[in-house]
Amino acid sequence: MSKHELATVAQAMVAPGRGILAADESTGTIEKRFSSIKVESSEENRRAYRDMLFSAKGLGQYISGVILYDETIRQKSADGTPFVELLARNGIVPGIKVDTGAKDLALCPGEKVTEGLDNLAKRCAEYVKMGAKFAKWRAVLTIGAGIPTPTCISANAHALGRYAAICQAAGLVPIVEPEVLMDGDHTIERCEEITEWTLNTVYEALYANRVTLEHSVLKPSMVISGKSCLQQAGVEEVAERTVRILKRTVPAAVGGIVFLSGGQSDEVATQHLNAMNRMFAGKLPWTLSFSYGRALQQQPLKAWKGSAANVAAAQAALLHRARMNSLACLGRYSADEEKHALAA
Ligand code: 13P
Repeated sequence: MSKHELATVAQAMVAPGRGILAADESTGTIEKRFSSIKVESSEENRRAYRDMLFSAKGLGQYISGVILYDETIRQKSADGTPFVELLARNGIVPGIKVDTGAKDLALCPGEKVTEGLDNLAKRCAEYVKMGAKFAKWRAVLTIGAGIPTPTCISANAHALGRYAAICQAAGLVPIVEPEVLMDGDHTIERCEEITEWTLNTVYEALYANRVTLEHSVLKPSMVISGKSCLQQAGVEEVAERTVRILKRTVPAAVGGIVFLSGGQSDEVATQHLNAMNRMFAGKLPWTLSFSYGRALQQQPLKAWKGSAANVAAAQAALLHRARMNSLACLGRYSADEEKHALAA
């Protein structure tokens, strides 16, 4: 892909009112999701589930791109259409998760480093041939007593820098995802401090690795209170603190920003995104959109329950959530929209 094409893909990923569906759960993660609805994680069930998501009519109106997993990018819809083609027909850009997971970081108890740099150039070349236009790599930082350590932050930032450079050389737009986990009882102030440190280190690493920022997309976590912190910050505080840290750390050249949901409830994830876009409309150099996994799939997964008879209901649940997040990209989401749509 030429430089011009990389810029076009990055822009398409954050087109106004559209965001990304993260459907790149590894086999282990999708097994966990399926066990919550008592469905066996067979290859055919995984295929049928993703088929249900990707063939929802009109999905492309709200969804600009879908992140696939290695198994999924090779699969086909029930009528034999490869998923990549099905998505492209709906105006949705196919992407691929290329990391091989977060593993224990040596000598740093309780911390992880994401692996997958081995053979990455070769794997990227194969994915490009299969039609992928962008890639994703997720780093995880855990907040706890004495962690994250500088060792963990710099190891993960370095890996993100190497990954992003390899992707761009191969013709893929890298989604750079440093996730500060919400697990724990830490305050929002602590989350803010760690997020600022992490993002600063990540952008130093991208610079050191010669990454073209315009041809990359950032997928950060929001600045929020730890899940079990007694004091939970409200929606506007989350929006203010998140945007403050992004302004301090993310260069204006970055192609766009798409948040992960990270275990927030569906509606709260939508409210946070909406608040940022409403409060800072016209004041930021980048588009703020979404790249949600759980916050888009929770309801459709529950509605589907592994049965072909529930496909229409599951697709309606997906389209509803996608539309709510599309409105949030434009700062036009409201509780009324939520109710209206449910009543319809
Ligand atoms: P969640 O929105 O469920 O956090 O998933 C997004 C994702 O792609 C994590 O890597």
